[in-house]
Amino acid sequence: MVRSSLGKAAATCLVLLPAAFAAGENPCATCHREEARSQPHTAMGIGIQLPADQTVLKEHPRLTFESNGYNYAIERKDGLSMYTVSDGVGSLALPIRYAFGVSAQTFVFEYKDHFYESLVSYYPSANGLAITMGSERLLPHNLVEAMGRETSGEEMVSCFGCHSSGGVSQGTLTLESMKPGLDCEHCHPGANTHLEAVSQGKPPAAPSKLGVMSAEDTSKFCGACHRTWDAVVRMRTWGELNVRFQPYRLANSKCFLGNDRRISCTACHNPHADLVRDEASYDRNCLACHAGTSSAGTALQKSCPVSDRKCVSCHMPKVELPGSHSVFTDHQIRIIRAGDRYPN
Ligand code: HEC
Ligand code: HEC
Ligand code: HEC
Ligand code: HEC
Ligand code: HEC
Ligand code: HEC
Ligand code: HEC
Repeated sequence: MVRSSLGKAAATCLVLLPAAFAAGENPCATCHREEARSQPHTAMGIGIQLPADQTVLKEHPRLTFESNGYNYAIERKDGLSMYTVSDGVGSLALPIRYAFGVSAQTFVFEYKDHFYESLVSYYPSANGLAITMGSERLLPHNLVEAMGRETSGEEMVSCFGCHSSGGVSQGTLTLESMKPGLDCEHCHPGANTHLEAVSQGKPPAAPSKLGVMSAEDTSKFCGACHRTWDAVVRMRTWGELNVRFQPYRLANSKCFLGNDRRISCTACHNPHADLVRDEASYDRNCLACHAGTSSAGTALQKSCPVSDRKCVSCHMPKVELPGSHSVFTDHQIRIIRAGDRYPN
């Protein structure tokens, strides 16, 4: 992963403050350039698209779908995307307030003071709309039910808790102050106070260093949203359905040594940058442990008798998550033999 750009430069740039950072640029960029430039544009940095920035819907100005005798259409007009469902007799049309996700998207609207999750979602693999994962077996009896699934207040609190910053405060929705996606403060509590301090030329009062966490602690940290091992066991999510919960899958792998940072989430992923889709680029992560014998003469884990490159292509297979129209990467690193069942 790309290491923090913070070094001597950060200390020197204290002198430049109050800095005139480019309009719209993240204020942390003066000193933590790399993280601050890339993070806001990542999937986690975006999280939700609001009407003005609904790029997926702008690129697909008219989407249609038919299911259970109901017709769905999402059309872009005057800066808004309208979600319309009709049954041949009547119709119901609502503006899409919140489009969750950046690749696949599920829509959230308000109707008569309640939040609804759209019954159809956009899936890139379908190049259009399909039934929202989890709602496949719902049989709508009227237009409102066909429009979407009514959610509990608690559920919305959790959606905005994982996909936004400032959208939840002390367990209640605070949508007035909601900013889509995860900002720095979300993962680095104390960052705003730190920024204020450095801006006033005071000692930096730096947030704690997350880079010192063990693999186990990093899994728990990321697992707050990607789901921890414990959470998956409690939810009893078995079979392919748990492939999206990487902290759980990784912990079940023989490679997972809780105190070894070479297998921590951040050894392979920079949380401030886009997910790297080049399989060969992960080889060095595997070889950090599986290179036979290190130059210092210390014994490392066994090396592969089959290949010395693109390790993840064989040992971290892609698995289709049922109902999601998407594939995930199985983080339970292992030898896979023909006919093997998916291990829980
Ligand atoms: C004027 C420069 C400056 C700005 C602006 C600034 N920081 Fe820092 N930051 C520093 C310095 C210097 C340190 C190192 C402090 C230390 O080691 O005691 C630091 C440390 C950190 C650390 C701890 C990491 C580590 O290696 O110790 C984090 C996380 C961090 N900053 C995040 C942020 C975020 C998020 C923002 C914006 C909200 C921000 N900083 C704005 C200068 C800055
Ligand atoms: C506060 C919740 C939260 C935490 C904590 C969190 N994530 Fe995420 N992460 C998300 C959400 C939400 C998405 C999906 C964003 C989207 O597609 O809209 C995501 C997506 C991702 C992706 C996929 C990006 C892509 O382009 O497909 C990666 C990789 C990822 N997270 C890694 C991590 C790592 C590593 C950590 C821990 C250092 C972490 N996340 C911590 C909420 C979180
Ligand atoms: C516990 C945290 C958490 C909660 C609660 C949560 N999400 Fe997510 N969501 C994630 C993470 C992490 C990802 C990325 C990995 C994945 O797809 O599983 C994600 C991915 C998504 C995606 C796919 C994004 C993409 O780019 O493909 C959509 C759509 C989505 N969530 C919508 C919702 C909606 C709507 C709710 C509430 C009903 C919700 N999420 C609740 C954490 C959460
Ligand atoms: C999804 C959570 C997440 C978000 C959002 C996030 N960071 Fe980080 N950040 C981390 C983690 C985890 C590490 C430790 C990486 C490692 O293990 O090496 C880190 C490391 C850093 C460091 C190096 C010092 C340290 O703590 O080890 C800096 C500086 C930093 N982040 C700045 C930022 C800035 C600036 C932003 C906002 C633009 C931001 N981060 C947003 C999770 C996050
Ligand atoms: C040894 C390397 C490695 C480690 C450790 C690792 N990942 Fe991954 N991760 C990958 C690879 C490889 C991909 C697939 C990249 C691609 O699409 O080509 C991936 C993909 C993902 C994705 C995108 C969705 C998916 O499943 O394809 C998320 C989210 C993610 N990882 C989160 C995590 C989290 C959270 C942790 C820590 C519990 C973690 N990863 C640990 C290698 C790793
Ligand atoms: C932190 C060090 C570490 C990292 C990083 C690591 N492994 Fe491992 N791996 C281990 C250990 C320890 C074992 C168990 C060895 C044993 O049982 O003899 C293991 C076992 C394996 C096995 C045999 C598993 C089985 O089912 O018997 C495979 C295959 C493997 N690793 C592949 C990989 C690949 C591919 C990567 C990168 C994506 C990777 N490892 C990353 C430490 C690591
Ligand atoms: C083309 C698929 C493929 C690729 C690519 C691949 N492997 Fe393997 N690997 C296998 C198979 C199959 C086995 C089981 C061999 C056997 O037991 O006959 C294996 C076995 C292993 C083992 C267990 C060795 C033992 O003696 O128990 C480790 C560790 C391993 N691979 C790591 C890696 C690493 C690290 C890479 C990348 C540098 C990698 N593999 C690339 C298919 C692959």
